[in-house]
Amino acid sequence: MFDLSGKVALVTGAGQHVGAGVALALAGQGARVAVNDVVAERAESTVAAVRSAGGVATLAVFDVTDGAAVGGGVRAIAEDLGPVDILVNNAGIPAGFRPRTFRELEPTDWARFVDLNLYGSLYCIRAVVDGMCDRRWGRIVQISSGAGQRGLAMGIALYGASKSAVEGFIRHLSQEVAGEGVTANSVALGTIDHVPPERLEQLARRVPVGRLGSPADVGAAVVFLASEEAAWLTGQTIQLSGGVVTT
Ligand SMILES: NC(=O)c1ccc[n+]([C@@H]2O[C@H](COP(=O)([O-])OP(=O)(O)OC[C@H]3O[C@@H](n4cnc5c(N)ncnc54)[C@H](O)[C@@H]3O)[C@@H](O)[C@H]2O)c1
Repeated sequence: MFDLSGKVALVTGAGQHVGAGVALALAGQGARVAVNDVVAERAESTVAAVRSAGGVATLAVFDVTDGAAVGGGVRAIAEDLGPVDILVNNAGIPAGFRPRTFRELEPTDWARFVDLNLYGSLYCIRAVVDGMCDRRWGRIVQISSGAGQRGLAMGIALYGASKSAVEGFIRHLSQEVAGEGVTANSVALGTIDHVPPERLEQLARRVPVGRLGSPADVGAAVVFLASEEAAWLTGQTIQLSGGVVTT
């Protein structure tokens, strides 16, 4: 089960943390993985990690908020590995993000969140979805956040709203492509364990399972959604939070 041999996956923002864990998990199941990041050295380190684990990976350095760059990057992946069968839209936190309340923000501060979480995802989907439909097989996985559904007094309204927007898009898209063998789902993450060590214990106490999530936890969920066996699962937002959010 969950064999991804013969499939080509593109993981955005895969140069570190969650995206790197997803790339490693997909490669571990046999997928050939294109490792995207806007920071070349980060993408290179994940490619090296996949290869040293015995997997197949290629570099895909481009900014997902640049539609032309995404198109060129996806064409280069097709020449190198083959057309993309599995797209994981993971890039979702703009560099230098610091929480601020709505009242502290200017409306113009919102643009880069919408650019990354909505346009970044839709440019990548646009670049691969026709091919997926033509080949009658495709998996689109959107990495989202619990902040997409829950209101939180944490100064992350603009981040949460951009995640809600992309989750809504994925639900509609899933209906449009369901008959073509393409699924589209979101995975809404709780807090992942790359937090300052002094905060680990305090944050873990809020999680029913008793610990924060790991990139490997996310990788396992994405492997399932990307698999042949998940063909009947589409249009969902799966809460991956150690039980913090229940549905
Ligand atoms: N870390 C958490 O606790 C947490 C919780 C909920 C949801 N998430 C979601 O998980 C995903 C990954 O989170 P993370 O903590 O691993 O993020 P991260 O910031 O540690 O890593 C993301 C990577 O994306 C890259 N990136 C940023 N902008 C890019 C762009 N325009 N084009 C290409 N690459 C770009 C960065 O260079 C970075 O290497 C995000 O979508 C985030 O919203 C994370």
